[in-house]
Formats: sequence, structure tokens, C-alpha cells
Amino acid sequence: MKHPLLCTIISILFVNAMAQDDAVTKIAVLGCHNQGSPAPAIPYFADKLQPDYSIWIGDNVYADTETDPQHIQRQLEVLENKDGYKKLRDNSKYMVTWDDHDYGLNDAGKDYVFKEESKQIHRKFWRLENEIPSERDGIYYAKLEKQPNGKVIQFIMLDGRFNRDDPGPEADALGENQWKFLESELKKPADLRFILCGYQVLLNKPTRWEAWIKLGKSRERLFDLIKSTGAQNIVFVTGDQHYVEVLHSPSNVDYKTFEIMAAGINKNEVPGIATNRSMKADKTIHSAPIIEVHWTADPYIHFKNYDVEKDRVNSDFRFKLSEIGWK
Ligand SMILES: [Fe+2]
Repeated sequence: MKHPLLCTIISILFVNAMAQDDAVTKIAVLGCHNQGSPAPAIPYFADKLQPDYSIWIGDNVYADTETDPQHIQRQLEVLENKDGYKKLRDNSKYMVTWDDHDYGLNDAGKDYVFKEESKQIHRKFWRLENEIPSERDGIYYAKLEKQPNGKVIQFIMLDGRFNRDDPGPEADALGENQWKFLESELKKPADLRFILCGYQVLLNKPTRWEAWIKLGKSRERLFDLIKSTGAQNIVFVTGDQHYVEVLHSPSNVDYKTFEIMAAGINKNEVPGIATNRSMKADKTIHSAPIIEVHWTADPYIHFKNYDVEKDRVNSDFRFKLSEIGWK
């Protein structure tokens, strides 16, 4: 090229465009952690995968108790002293919700006897005292995270326990205050939103596990709210079952999106039946699931589940943000 200045400008533009295309946000998903057993996935995340964010999706410890809420605290301290835990906390931002076993009891909902004590333990242990007011009816909160390339990711941590009715045709998942909170969060601008819940949202057929489909009109109400707020680019991240899968919206949900269900960082079980799977269930026992957001011109998510023992990706799935929306 004859003009050195033009040449330099073109090179700068090219490098910037490449940097933009190369921008990747990495989000680990951890949960269903048996604190009494080794969990090599935690140091694997901290040392090798080095995520920007770490979602703790629930059953972060198994701490069932009907007699002593301090039992929950003690189990969380076991987690805190696990190999890799503090390094991961120091080097990635934690986004946290709970499910039944770290709330304090299997399948527990709004009638759990230690719900208040458990909430205070959760706020303190996970360093969420500034995010979750002491008097809030649950541990729900949300964060808007601006990425180095200017894009904004919203994380909405739902609490599917504190106000949850017993399953049935009239049951509610969230409680009125949390519904209002969710509405106001969905109205905030964001380029991508992750809605987190300890149990599955898009699972369309009731199984022996808990899911939104068993909670009356809650799921219908959720999608009505998504529609009325005009919120876009929503992806669900859930836990509860001890394997890893990706679901797509069932035919009776007109908002087409995906749900990454990833739990069981050191345990597994036989997968249940889901008729709307996009990625088949992966029951790797020591799994390290990671969501990569690739901020290309047509941004996409590449979800990978690593087998920690084999040190390789065992299954993966990609989808574009442009695939998400009302169809
Ligand atoms: Fe679990």
C-alpha cells in the first residue's frame, strides 16, 4: 500500500474488528455439590477454565435440617474450604441462588421452618448483604454487568423456594414481591439476560422432579411478563438434576429460547425424560459446564460441558442470540 497512514488506519480498524469478534464472556455453572466428597471441578474451573462469572445454581451444599439452622452454615463452611473455592471466588464474580437442599430441606417451599435463618446465613456466606436487603422475602437479586466491549449482560437470580406454594393447579413459584421485582428488572436495558432458577423452567412434562410446569400458571405468567415488558434475549440457566442438558422451548411456549440445565459437579444420576432436549443429557460425574458468549456480529452462545477427569469437552451445543424471540 502506497500511503503509510492509510495503511496504519486500516490495520487499526482490522485489529479492533478482530478484537470485537474475539470477545468472549465465560460463565461457569456449579451446583448440586456433595460437600462430603471431592469436587475436582471447582479447581478445574479456577485453574484451567478461568471464567469471568461463576453461577452457583443451587444445592450448592446438601444441608437438610429441621432442627438446627446452623447445620446449613457448617455445610457452607465445608464448601468454603474446598480446593479451588476461594481462588474461583477471587477471580470470577459469583452469581448465586439456592435450591431446596441449601435452602434447608428436600422439596421445601414457603412453609420451611428455618426460612428466615437460612436467608440470613445465605446473605452473609455468599457476601450478598448489599445485594439482598435483610427484610426481603427471599434471596432474589439481579446484576447488570457491562462487558469490556460495552455489551451488557443481566443476571436475574430467582428464588424458587422462599415463597413457593406446594405444587398444584393454583400454585405460585415466586410470590407477588418477587414478580414485581422481576418485572422491573426485565424493563432494564440489556443485550443478554440470564434468568437463573434452582429448578427447571422449560421442562414440559412433569417428572418426579420439581419444575415450573407443576406450579399452576406460574410459567404462563412468566412468559406473559416477558411479553409485556418487551424483554429480549433471555436464556434460562437452571439446576436440580444431576446431569447436564440443553432444552428448547416446548411447542406451547411461543417465546423460543433455550434452557441450560447444569448441576451435579460431583454427582450424577440417570437422566429423566425430556421431550424438548436440544443437547442430550450428559451424566459425566465430575462435570465443569461453561457458557461462552461469543460477541461476534451475530452473537452466539457456545455451551460446553467438560469432563474434568478426562480433561476434555464431553458435549457441547451452540445457538445464536438471533434464534431467540417470539415466533
Ligand atoms: Fe441436587
